[in-house]
Amino acid sequence: MAKTGNAESLGTAEGAVLGRASHALHADPPILDDTWAVLLLGPESQARARDPEYSANAIEREGFDPGPVFALNVGSLRYAEDEVERAVRDGVDQYVILGAGFDTFALRRGDLCDRLRVYEVDHPDVQALKRERIALADATPDVMPTFVPIDFETTSLGEGLEATAFEPKRRCVVSWMNTIPYLTESATEASLRELVARMAPASRLVLNYACDVPFTDEQLGYLKTLQGMVKQSGEPLRSRWKPEAFEALLDDVGFSIIEHLTEQDLSRRYFEGRADGLKPGVPARLITAAPRS
Ligand SMILES: C[S@@+](CC[C@H](N)C(=O)[O-])C[C@H]1O[C@@H](n2cnc3c(N)ncnc32)[C@H](O)[C@@H]1O
Repeated sequence: MAKTGNAESLGTAEGAVLGRASHALHADPPILDDTWAVLLLGPESQARARDPEYSANAIEREGFDPGPVFALNVGSLRYAEDEVERAVRDGVDQYVILGAGFDTFALRRGDLCDRLRVYEVDHPDVQALKRERIALADATPDVMPTFVPIDFETTSLGEGLEATAFEPKRRCVVSWMNTIPYLTESATEASLRELVARMAPASRLVLNYACDVPFTDEQLGYLKTLQGMVKQSGEPLRSRWKPEAFEALLDDVGFSIIEHLTEQDLSRRYFEGRADGLKPGVPARLITAAPRS
C-alpha cells in the first residue's frame, strides 16, 4: 500500500497520473482531455511529461511499452465519465470515485460539478499528497471533491461514506476504475457489500478488474514485467478474477449486471481508427451494474 514520506512518488496513483498527463499532452486525439493531470505531478515528473521525446522513448528507456496498460486505464476512465454525463443529464447529483488517486474529474469538470457532488475515496496518504499538489498547482480547481480517506483492506467504506454528506437515499454513480487489481478479493467483496447497501435504486456502479483467462505467451511476459514495476511502487497486483466468478460475486452481493465488456470492446468503442495504434492491450473486463431493487 501507499507509503508516506516520498513526495515525488507515492504508489500507483502517481504512475497513473503521469500516464494521463503524457497522454493528454501528446496523444492525438486524447481519449480523455486531462491536462489537469499535468498540474498534479511533482516537478521532475512534470518536466518528463511535457517532454515529447521522453514520452516517445519510453520503450527504449524502460524496455516496456506502457501504451497497452495506459490505454486501458484512460479508456476505462472515459467509460466511467460517459456514464456520469448520462446520469447527470438524468438528474443524478452524487458521484463517488473509489480508488480515485489523482483523478481530476472534479478539478476540471465544473460544467457538471455545479450539479454534482463528488466524493473521492482513497488511502489517506495519497489524499494528503493530492491536496498538497492541488494547493501548489498553477490553476484553480473547478470544484474540490469531498475526500473520504480509507484503506480498503482495513477500514469500512460504509463508515467512510457515512462521515460525509453522501445521501444513500439519492441516486448516485460509483466508479471503481484501475484499482480492484491492487486489492485482495476479500477487501473487494467487503466494499461491494457496504456499497450496495448505500446505493439507491437506479444508481449505477461502473468498474474494471483484471481477468483470469488463458493468456498468450506475449501477454504473460507483459503482465510479469508490469507486476515487477507496480511491486516496486509498493502496490503489487493482488487479484485476478475469472469473469464468471466476478459475475457471481456481484449477483451474490445484490447487483444486477447491465453490461460486461472485454478490453477489445473498450478498444472498439474508443480507440478505433487511431493513427498511433494506441489501444487497451491488457486482459481486463469492465462492468456497468445496478443495485437489485
Ligand atoms: C492505479 S491507481 C488508479 C487511480 C485512479 N483510479 C486512476 O485511474 O488514475 C490505484 C489507486 O488505488 C489506490 N489503492 C490501492 N490500494 C488501496 C487500499 N488498500 N486502500 C485505498 N486505496 C487503495 C491507490 O492509492 C491508487 O490511488
